[in-house]
Amino acid sequence: MKLLIPEDEIRAAVRRLGAEITRDFAKSDPVVVPILSGSFMFAADLIRELPFPLEVDFMKVSSYKDATAPQGPIEVHLEPGTPLRGRPVLIIEDIIDSGGTLLRIIEDMRRAGAEPVKVAVLLDKRGEKGKPVPVDYTGIKRACDFVVGYGTDYAGHYRNLRGIYVLDEPDIAAYR
Ligand code: IMP
Ligand code: MG
Repeated sequence: MKLLIPEDEIRAAVRRLGAEITRDFAKSDPVVVPILSGSFMFAADLIRELPFPLEVDFMKVSSYKDATAPQGPIEVHLEPGTPLRGRPVLIIEDIIDSGGTLLRIIEDMRRAGAEPVKVAVLLDKRGEKGKPVPVDYTGIKRACDFVVGYGTDYAGHYRNLRGIYVLDEPDIAAYR
């Protein structure tokens, strides 16, 4: 396993995002929606950088199953119960890769009547490829292979790592 993004770089990115989001949302009482499970750690840190009135509700989706590449359609396992009509929403997502997951989530929030719908992402892996999804707050931009840690997983494992790591073949084989 190779360290890609150390803890202190994540912390600095989260603080910067917190300041940007606070400037934009401090007066609008948004609903903040972490996308489970991968964003739970990022969301816990980021939300503590937001010292203004807000609500938190959750959405749980999956698309990756236990593979290191997207497979099939996005499954929605949990939607926010908080009424979103006319409310500003801030989606908190761990990683954008192809952009398919976020496109679907943004569409769902709009259909629920949220306005505006903004997006904060810790790691943008898109590089040159990927869908043109508008991300309003980007923590770190880096095209890379499959990563784990700081909440993100491979086959359910490695979420407890403090930094973000690129997997090697033995790390994958351990939970295949
Ligand atoms: P996309 O739909 O291709 O943009 O993929 C984004 C979704 O897949 C996010 O919900 C991520 O949690 C997950 N994902 C994408 N790349 C990685 C990765 O390198 N490690 C862990 N999860 C990832
Ligand atoms: Mg995810």
